[in-house]
Amino acid sequence: ELTDITGLLLSRIRDVPDHPEPGVVFKDITPLLADPVAFAALTDALAEFAEGVGATKVVGLEARGFILGAPVALRAGLGFVPVRKAGKLPGATLGQAYDLEYGSAEIEVHAEDLTPGDRVLVVDDVLATGGTAEASLRLIRRAGAQVAGLAVLMELGFLGGRAKLEPALAGAPLRSLLTV
Ligand code: PRP
Repeated sequence: ELTDITGLLLSRIRDVPDHPEPGVVFKDITPLLADPVAFAALTDALAEFAEGVGATKVVGLEARGFILGAPVALRAGLGFVPVRKAGKLPGATLGQAYDLEYGSAEIEVHAEDLTPGDRVLVVDDVLATGGTAEASLRLIRRAGAQVAGLAVLMELGFLGGRAKLEPALAGAPLRSLLTV
């Protein structure tokens, strides 16, 4: 049963001009999270995608990818694995550095949370330049797991993240529920 939830989701995302700096319009998802109907619709849509791609685990990207990814994992009956900014995870980690507009950043995962049999769906709120998602896909492959797909609530089409991700996805599907 295909229900078009695009309008519902869009209506619960708030544009905040000049945040975090002048000229940037921040896409605030907190109104969506505060609406249980919209949050459930989003969770159901992403869980359906997780099942469709045969995922065995959901990876959420800090921080909003945790909020969206954890209920998706539960709904789909899968385990949840956090990918965190460097220095936060207490156990043995694998790290992946990536470039930002100015400087660089690093994300980490607990190495033992991903195993060669895993097919991983990565969940995040926003795909912007694609740098964070690309680094996560590399991390997953370096951990020996497969990439089942990448799912985001929102894609900022004008930043070209989808094209940048093509090599790292290597044929795995990218699903965005909204493109702005
Ligand atoms: C935002 C967003 C994505 C990432 C997208 O996270 O939630 O994770 O940036 O940007 P990119 O496609 O250009 O890499 P942010 O770094 O603001 O982290 P936070 O959620 O912890 O605040």
